Amino acid sequence: MIKKITFIGLISIISVVGLAFVFFPELFIQTSQINLNFSDKSTQKSLSIPSLLEDLNPEDGISEFKLTVQNGQVNFIDDKLTKTLGYNGNYLGPVIKVDRYDLVNITVDNQLDDSTSVHWHGLEVDGPADGGPFQVIPSKSLWNPSFVVDQVASTLWFHPHVMGTTATQVYQGLAGLFIVEDENSKSLNLPDKYGVNDIPLIIQDRAFDANGQFIYINSMDGAIGNRFIVNGSIYPYLDVDQMKVRFRIVNGANARNYNLHLSDNSSFYQIASDGGLLESPVEMDNLFLAPGERAEIIIDFSKYSKGDQITLLTEDKALIDFNIQNEVNDTSVIPDHLADFENIDLSKVTKTKSIELDAMGMFVAIDGQQFDPLRIDTTVNQFEYQIWEISVNSGMMSTPGHPFHVHSTQFRILDRNGQAPNENEAGWKDTVYVRNGETVRILVQFKHKGIFMYHCHILEHEEAGMMAQLQVY
Ligand code: C2O
Ligand code: CU
Ligand code: CU
Repeated sequence: MIKKITFIGLISIISVVGLAFVFFPELFIQTSQINLNFSDKSTQKSLSIPSLLEDLNPEDGISEFKLTVQNGQVNFIDDKLTKTLGYNGNYLGPVIKVDRYDLVNITVDNQLDDSTSVHWHGLEVDGPADGGPFQVIPSKSLWNPSFVVDQVASTLWFHPHVMGTTATQVYQGLAGLFIVEDENSKSLNLPDKYGVNDIPLIIQDRAFDANGQFIYINSMDGAIGNRFIVNGSIYPYLDVDQMKVRFRIVNGANARNYNLHLSDNSSFYQIASDGGLLESPVEMDNLFLAPGERAEIIIDFSKYSKGDQITLLTEDKALIDFNIQNEVNDTSVIPDHLADFENIDLSKVTKTKSIELDAMGMFVAIDGQQFDPLRIDTTVNQFEYQIWEISVNSGMMSTPGHPFHVHSTQFRILDRNGQAPNENEAGWKDTVYVRNGETVRILVQFKHKGIFMYHCHILEHEEAGMMAQLQVY
């Protein structure tokens, strides 16, 4: 009884703080003390393009990579240096690029004073290689996962996944891209020259204190920042020639949804979702991405003239300026057909399972239970098809929705409240945004054995218990 009262007491204190944050964010984020003049383009930095990580094994079909997790510092604001974390550098990490069927050996060297792990988000691998909460890499030690990549060309990513520090380690900079190519993606003549017409955009938001250090404020909606960072700089620019450019976009935020659009409202083409190319390009002028989701889009800059400037925004906040340069001869294409998909055959489904995401103010859980590493919540047979019906059970004060993510699988969205998904969500997905009042049905299959997490990708929700685990036999 006493325990219950203190628990309720604690919940109400947390809720009051949460409410205060929602209505008076300036109490928590010292925006006024930061002198950031967005109209002053003289200090605007050019977009930094993460380097491609060197493959240390010259043999075809075998790749060997080395990642060092380290402390760093970055100049984001004025002349201030922000303490950060990075892979092989100060902030974020290099891009790991592999071909389908490659055997990949990775050495992760954890030089932090804390433990970490490296989870390959979107990759279909056996449990021990997944990099989840059970593959902890203690401080000053190595981890050597090894796996064969067997999935279609896609833009995946990696980030820490240790219990208690996932959210803060990602916030401080630990995230990187993992790109898979295959025969199909190479044959399409898409823009595919890395750093030239194939460019990653890792979008994040952060809050800073008066000394330019990150401040991490956990509210009911997770840690939301007020400065937008693309590939590690606040509001950078990119010079682009008059040609098609493919952007591999990652919502790398802890908690914020992005609604991406161009300043002239012109359209672009989405060609890939989380786990691979779509069947056909989808023309759109607004792209919604929840934390953890990715999209590849192509913007055709050939309709602009030298000197034009187009800005990519989320809502009304500028993320990056594209400064149009020269006319060039562009031989890349946006093909009408991108990838083959088998028809969804529900006769193969052996089980339908419902999953409830619970969110009552600061209290979050899955199916009424908070994460317990000692409890297996779901078991699945390898290769079995299941339908998962995901819905949200939320109180009055609650986050509008939750990005639901499942490890070691790429699934298909069957419907949202009975309606077929939008075309840009009809391909391979590993994260799906489920709004309050919505039931989303997905078709899942696991090709690898082991213990895997499924959770909300608002990292603060994940840490607070909106995570469960499944075992694939
Ligand atoms: Cu992006 Cu469980 O992770
Ligand atoms: Cu994941
Ligand atoms: Cu959530």
